[in-house]
Amino acid sequence: MTLWGGRFSTKLNDQAWDLNSSLPVDQRMAIQDVDGSIAWANALHKANILLDEEHASISLGLDTVRKEFASGEFIFVPSDEDIHTAVERRLTELIGVTAGKLHTGRSRNDQVATDFRLWMLQAIPELDSAFRILQSALLAQAELAGETIMPGYTHLQRAQPILLSHWWLSHYHPLERDRERLNDLVKRVSILPLGSGALAGTPVPVDRAALAESLGFAVASPNSLDSVSDRDFAAEFLFCATMTGIHLSKLSEQIVLYTSAEFGFFELSDAFSTGSSLMPQKKNPDVFELTRGKAGTLIGMLTGLLATLKGLPSTYDKDLQEDKAPVFAAADTLLAILPVIAGAINTITAKPQRMRNAIDSFMMATDLADYLVEKGIPFRETHAIAGKAVREAGEKNVGLEELSLEAYQALCPAFEADVYQVFDPMKSIEKRNAIGGTSLQSVKNQIKQIKGE
Ligand code: ARG
Repeated sequence: MTLWGGRFSTKLNDQAWDLNSSLPVDQRMAIQDVDGSIAWANALHKANILLDEEHASISLGLDTVRKEFASGEFIFVPSDEDIHTAVERRLTELIGVTAGKLHTGRSRNDQVATDFRLWMLQAIPELDSAFRILQSALLAQAELAGETIMPGYTHLQRAQPILLSHWWLSHYHPLERDRERLNDLVKRVSILPLGSGALAGTPVPVDRAALAESLGFAVASPNSLDSVSDRDFAAEFLFCATMTGIHLSKLSEQIVLYTSAEFGFFELSDAFSTGSSLMPQKKNPDVFELTRGKAGTLIGMLTGLLATLKGLPSTYDKDLQEDKAPVFAAADTLLAILPVIAGAINTITAKPQRMRNAIDSFMMATDLADYLVEKGIPFRETHAIAGKAVREAGEKNVGLEELSLEAYQALCPAFEADVYQVFDPMKSIEKRNAIGGTSLQSVKNQIKQIKGE
């Protein structure tokens, strides 16, 4: 049984049927489809389209269908073109022809957009919790790191010393923005399409504001033409997911690097590492590499949907059926990655000595310039003097701390014996005490702020 057979003389070609059918993807919105139908039946009843007995019968039938979905007992049949057809077919089996009254004034166009939005309203909090678990892991590592110091990089070249805790937290904040973005999306998802009909609106005198409220939407959509074709929320959702993918990829890339023998800053726990079938010594950071890889797939999903939406004439076009697979896949991807990365981060061991050994005195060259600034020399000049010191030490193949005081004074008479204190990395760190800097106090304040203390 299709929902549209009346005007056709032959049935749809089998392969065209397979192409057209969306059940494999949209059966995931089964509960939402039933809930939307229950709300629509209530609206039809209030509008006197359904008599009391009809409404009672439809409601009872839909309740049974819902239970069948929830318990996994629902049996799909080959003629179920999509989830909407499946629900109506089953309802007809349960209550007979009265089921046919449910679709009055409704179209699968407003129905599918409603189901999809309902699904997303439930998916967002689920994702939000998964984000929080990873954020807690990052925060816990930041607190555990205490006064551990490490080299900070720009261009992947040693730049300035930083606190390890500051580095952990630098991966916390992007996730906070991701969560904020995702939650902000809720207000654009929470707009009810149901009651828009196929495109022009419904002839049923429904109170759409009340209908919206009954389904947990903030408002009813103000324009039926826009409403059945608006997939901004799907594209936005994919952007949110992709941005998170990119943030996690960036984190992963660094963990992959820092767990290499060359860096040796971190060690992964065995529970989150994989081996090689050939090389017995290997301990690979696969979960981080997969996360980095999946960011690429997420970008593809986002650009794929954007390309689908581009140039579609208003209003509903079947191209829109392509909207759900990438959104579901993106949500699944994040829900698969986030807990694993959280677990891997929780169990990572930092190697403070390796990190300390990777800090050389050249990373304090900026502090050397700043030392002379304190003596009243303009930074542009002190930068050049410190640069000359770096060159001289490089030529002599020694560290900045190994140049003699005479050598320093030859570069600038303002240098005094206390210059050597500049090469203490902790001093360098402690100087960066403004909001957002890497000093112990700044990072403590950062943690306090995060914890809302
Ligand atoms: N399966 C369709 C989708 O996901 C449902 C809407 C069908 N509407 C239609 N006019 N054929 O977009």
